[in-house]
Parts: sequence; structure tokens; C-alpha cells
Amino acid sequence: MSKKIAVLPGDGIGPEIVAEAVKVLVWLRDAQGLDLEMSEALVGGAAIDATGGPLPESTLKLALEADAVLLGAVGGPKWEPLPHAIRPERGLLGLRKELDLFANLRPASVYPQLVDASPLKPELVSGIDILVVRELTGDIYFGQPRGVETLPDGSRRGYNTMVYSEAEIERIAHVAFKAAQGRQGRLCSVDKANVLETTELWREVLTRIGQQEYPEVELSHMYVDNAAMQLIRNPRQFDVIVTGNIFGDILSDEASQLTGSIGMLASASLGTKYGMYEPIHGSAPDIAGQGIANPIATILSVAMMLRYSLNEPVWADRIEAAVSRVLDQGLRTADIHAPGTRRVGTHEMGDAVLAA
Ligand code: NAI
Ligand code: MG
Repeated sequence: MSKKIAVLPGDGIGPEIVAEAVKVLVWLRDAQGLDLEMSEALVGGAAIDATGGPLPESTLKLALEADAVLLGAVGGPKWEPLPHAIRPERGLLGLRKELDLFANLRPASVYPQLVDASPLKPELVSGIDILVVRELTGDIYFGQPRGVETLPDGSRRGYNTMVYSEAEIERIAHVAFKAAQGRQGRLCSVDKANVLETTELWREVLTRIGQQEYPEVELSHMYVDNAAMQLIRNPRQFDVIVTGNIFGDILSDEASQLTGSIGMLASASLGTKYGMYEPIHGSAPDIAGQGIANPIATILSVAMMLRYSLNEPVWADRIEAAVSRVLDQGLRTADIHAPGTRRVGTHEMGDAVLAA
């Protein structure tokens, strides 16, 4: 049976970079015989302009019927005056919620060819290969009660609640342990168990599941403040990091910057049934329409799709190898350009990866 892929280009550079990633999918279908079926739909600002809302019913339906979703990016200055509830970003949050995408996987590795692009010294970052597994549908971002209240004396107080059920911790733990099994076999769980009871439970559940079901994975625990420090001090010590929603939000952005180039980084958001794949960057309105955006993050997101949703790990490896080969050839988009390399545009980079 053919595998259905919902393609949601979104706004800004979204359509430009997604077009290059779709070229790879089309080639896999036409030249390599993979049984893939791609359908496009509107999301974000593009959907607001056409239908009045960021996540039309037809788009959600397409995503719910698909084996995987490929997303570009949403948002831009044009829609910033809109109220929060109908902004482009709501399209993305709506998809994550409706598809129950509770596990966000963000690899951060440094290509040896781009070691100089990192803000850290080459000897610190060379060889970095980290996978951050962030829980995406729980924690203080969703916990009740929440709000801002006015106290009897007229002053105001804001509050949010950190909540994790045992079941929520268990399911993200399994994702992280399995990821570690397929890598170097080391998992670092990040919490604040010395202060927060919720994360004390987190640590307890991680420990139990590790001992019972993944004894071969080397599990360690780290407090989040120390983890933030260690990521800069000695990033090579990490293989897989697993953490809750808010700590993961911060640490995954921090980890991504070690590699120095937002245009290179892919992500997967997984649930029990669905998978959504997207570059970690936004719609880059400052360079949209110029044909200079780096499509590699989106192409690498297709590689993750092949690995996690389409059961084609060999093709995932080949795409990643092709990206590396293109970097070896000295081709660079503007964001990773350096003296002595050849500057190329979005199309040319996409074509080069396909050729490789
Ligand atoms: P951004 O990631 O769009 O851009 C940050 C900087 O990185 C810009 O200078 C941009 O030109 C550059 N950049 C990003 N992707 C690039 C690529 N592929 N190649 C070359 N350079 C690239 O973040 P920013 O500027 O904070 O947000 C712009 C818009 O995107 C906002 O509306 C924001 O809400 C939205 N956004 C959407 C996200 C999503 O759809 N997942 C995530 C982050 C932001
Ligand atoms: Mg963030």
C-alpha cells in the first residue's frame, strides 16, 4: 500500500525549502520505486489568507490520513497584528495536539566540514552528535490551573502548574531508551529533582524503566542547570538527552546553536500513530523569496521521516551521506558560506544533494 505524505509548505521560505525536499521524495518515488503519495495543503499564514484560519479542516484531515507530515515553517510579520488565537503558530500547535505528537526529536551534530561555523572552539565541538528527546505535550505549558489572578489587595499574581503523569513519563522514556539503543547506548535524563517533585517522579520512572527494560543502556541523571552548563563546557559527553517540555525547549535550542547553523537542523515530532517532520528554523521572512535559504534542514527532515515513519532507514542514511558529500564538494548556501567555498542558492543546493 502506498505511503501517504502530507506536505504543508507554510509561509516565508517554507515553500522554497519544502520544494527541494519534495524533489528528493519525488525522485525516491519515480527513480527508486518507493510507493509514496504526496499531497499538499495550506497551513499557517497561507491558510489564514485563503480560508481565515491557520489550520483548515481539510489540512487537518489530510494530516490525520497521512503516514507522515512534512512541514516547512509558519508565520511572518504580515500576521503579527492578529490575536494569538488565530495566528499562524496556532496551526502548528493545533497539529501537534491533534496528532498527539508527544516526542520531539532534535539531532544536533556538527559536520566536520562546518566546524568553523560553530560559536564554540573547533576542538570543543568537533565530533558532537547529540539527540535531544523533548516531551512535547505535557509539563508546565499545559498543566492546570494556570492564569493571572487579582488578589484582595489589588495586586496580581500569575501561576502555571508543572504536571506529569507516570504514563506520560513512561511513553517518552521508551522513545528515548530506544533511540539510545540505536546510537551509542548512553541516555542522560535531565530534571530538577532536587527541587521539583514532578521531576523527582520523572527520575524515578526513568530509573525503573531503564533497569527493567533497557539494562544495556547506560542511564545517567543531570540537573537542568548543570546540563545547560555541560552542553557548552563539554558537549561531546552527550549521546541522547531526554527531558520534559520546558527544559527541553531551552536545552534543544542551546544544543542546536553548538552546530552554528540553524539551516542545517532537522526535527521529528512523534506520537504513537503519527509523525511530523520539519526544520527547526522559522519562516525567515528576512530572506524569503530570494532563493538563498538553506534547504538542508528540510531535506534532513525527510531523512528522519524515512527512518521513523516510512521504515526506510537505508534511504535515510543515504540522504544524510549525500548532504555530507555536497559539503565535501565545497557547496554552501549563504548561511554557512565561508571563504574558499562556493556559494549556491536554494535550488542549486537541492539539486546537488539529489545528484549526490
Ligand atoms: P527564523 O528561524 O525564521 O530566522 C532566524 C534567522 O535565521 C534569520 O536571520 C533567518 O534568515 C535565518 N534562517 C532561518 N532559516 C534559514 C535557512 N533555512 N537558511 C538560511 N537562513 C535561515 O526565526 P525568526 O526570525 O525568529 O522568526 C521568523 C518567523 O518564523 C516568525 O513569524 C516566527 O514566529 C516564525 N517561526 C516559525 C517556526 C516554525 O514554523 N516552526 C519556528 C520559529 C519561528
Ligand atoms: Mg523554542
